[in-house]
Amino acid sequence: MRKPAESPSPLHELIRERWSPRAFAERSVEPDKIRSLLEAARWAPFSSNGQPWSYLVATKEEPEEFARLASCLVDGNAWAKRAPLLLLAVAATHFAHNDKPNRHAFHDVGLANENLVLQAGAMGLVVHQMAGFQLDRARELFEIPHGQEPLTMLAVGYPGEIDDLPEPLRVRESAPRSRKPLAEMTFSRKWGNVSPLAKDPTMKSE
Ligand SMILES: Cc1cc2nc3c(=O)[nH]c(=O)nc-3n(C[C@H](O)[C@H](O)[C@H](O)COP(=O)(O)O)c2cc1C
Repeated sequence: MRKPAESPSPLHELIRERWSPRAFAERSVEPDKIRSLLEAARWAPFSSNGQPWSYLVATKEEPEEFARLASCLVDGNAWAKRAPLLLLAVAATHFAHNDKPNRHAFHDVGLANENLVLQAGAMGLVVHQMAGFQLDRARELFEIPHGQEPLTMLAVGYPGEIDDLPEPLRVRESAPRSRKPLAEMTFSRKWGNVSPLAKDPTMKSE
């Protein structure tokens, strides 16, 4: 199933085609592809030599480990247990070299996650990121130390069939994707003043 981004401006295929599905095929992700995903995350840009990202990883090849990581998901994200690969992205909140707070830690882990997501797309995989997991449970189960913040879980796999999902999820899966317009997010001169660059050149001016 495709749900391409509708954009009046051309977009790279990886960006246009990316979306967050909940249906996954019953097919493992090859270990070399998992390493490519992690390498993509590793090569994300970072602020002040922070490299604040770490990942806990579990595949269905290790059912006990997988069950442990999956047990952190909230009920609303139980669909993610069907994915063959789960990750938990963790952010180091302070710089290792001086122990000062890294104001951009979450930002940089987000960049690493998006690198991972786009690399996944390039390899025919899909990713669904999730905030819905039990933070304290993850901390405890995986002995995540103070100063490391469990941030996002990621379900990864090959695309599945919408018919494999239970009915309520099928509706969500096929719902249209939407975004606020450029004019609501692109300003110039002062906050809230729409930049002329945000105006769609294909629209007739009034
Ligand atoms: C940090 C983050 C947390 C998210 N948490 C959840 C979640 O807990 N459950 C869920 O079903 N989707 C979650 N999503 C997916 C978003 O709902 C999805 O990205 C958004 O609706 C836009 O849809 P798209 O990714 O298909 O463009 C999350 C996405 C991000 C980036």
